[in-house]
Amino acid sequence: MRSFSFTTLSLLASAVSATLQIVPGATWTATNTGQHIQAHGGGMLKVGDKWYWVGEDKTNGTAFININCYSSTNLVEWNYEGALLSQTASGDTGPGRVIERPKVIFNKKTNKYVLWMHIDSANYGEAKIGVATGDSVCGKYTYLRSERPLGFESRDSGVYVDDDGTGYLLTEDRKNGLRINLLSDDYTTIVRNVYTWAEKYESPAIAKKNGVYFMFASQLTGWNPNDNYYSTATSLSGPWSAWKKFADSGSNTYASQTTFILPVGNNFMYMGDRWVGGELFRSTYIWLPLTISGTTASMKNAVNWIVDAQSGSMTPGPTENQYEGESAALSSGARTIACSGCSGSNAAGYIGGSTNGAATFSNVQSSATTRTTLRIKHLNGDSKQRVADVSVNGKTQRVAFLPNGGSEPGSSVVHVDLKQGANEVRVVTQGTWGPDVDRIMVPQS
Ligand code: DGJ
Repeated sequence: MRSFSFTTLSLLASAVSATLQIVPGATWTATNTGQHIQAHGGGMLKVGDKWYWVGEDKTNGTAFININCYSSTNLVEWNYEGALLSQTASGDTGPGRVIERPKVIFNKKTNKYVLWMHIDSANYGEAKIGVATGDSVCGKYTYLRSERPLGFESRDSGVYVDDDGTGYLLTEDRKNGLRINLLSDDYTTIVRNVYTWAEKYESPAIAKKNGVYFMFASQLTGWNPNDNYYSTATSLSGPWSAWKKFADSGSNTYASQTTFILPVGNNFMYMGDRWVGGELFRSTYIWLPLTISGTTASMKNAVNWIVDAQSGSMTPGPTENQYEGESAALSSGARTIACSGCSGSNAAGYIGGSTNGAATFSNVQSSATTRTTLRIKHLNGDSKQRVADVSVNGKTQRVAFLPNGGSEPGSSVVHVDLKQGANEVRVVTQGTWGPDVDRIMVPQS
């Protein structure tokens, strides 16, 4: 009986978590900070049963402040763990420095985590690679040094560990083309060049399936997105195929730039950045299922989709019901405002302020009792993030709302427990202005 109930519980747990969704391009609030996740240009690794996402903290724009680390068990809900490196008084990690594209690999021989990253001056003139090591994945790292790999310029970078444990550095050499370099056994030094493409691509990331290596990379257009490409080979030293597009041509890779390709089970997830140049803190994450078959890679866009972090299954997201902000009960100063880009041309405005204006949606229907993802379509005309406390059936969490930019509402996701039947969703901000709420999008099942 005991084992029967245990099995039943785990089955229920997996069924429940299956409806959490990845919503590319939305505000993603870390569960324990109430702030948009700052892990841009990042990569991921799995340690035990947790995923760790390491990336750039762009709170201050291009100037380095932190290399951040977040953890998750389901690839959807992220907890802030801390910074691997933080700004120091001087040196490579000092004020006004550029540190981009941090990637961590684990070295089984030394038991160390090794972090490689682009190190630069504010005008990107130094063009170096840097390396640091740590004893735990999300702990403090010791910065070792920076250099021009084998004497060549290096800006965007990545790392790749092959099945046999050999480590490689991927480095963008603007003068000569994208390179693969072999790393030493402990992954902390560069041994020799393995391959150089004649083409000048950046933002490199390698994946391997059935003995075929795929190098993904972007063209060089600064913070603006372009159609990214891939090249394939059966050996890292080549020959490598001609470059091909993997997303819809002309979509600029769904307005994103490659940063990492994550294997999940037998499948792959594309991780890209949708940079907002000039306001880099509000850059968002474009994660999508990447189909790799033979020597072909392809990717379609999605509003929402579901990943099973255990099995790697990737399935389309649910259709949604929508509840208009202006139809919610608006109280304590909150009221309907005109909004040209919103559905119904209206939104719930004046959320928060000195009166703590609130919008209460009292009849949000769910066909199942489930943990799932809501999207709050919102406006925030500020240049800073706004926040709100979102309560679902009385359980409250702090949610961030990035500036939406333009007239189109942005999405902010919130992961909640819905019960079958009617639910109450309340959006309120205490003392400061919250987002204008166009509508909330609620999974139908
Ligand atoms: C594009 C790169 O891929 C980013 O990492 C960053 O270096 C920007 N260029 C700077 O313009």
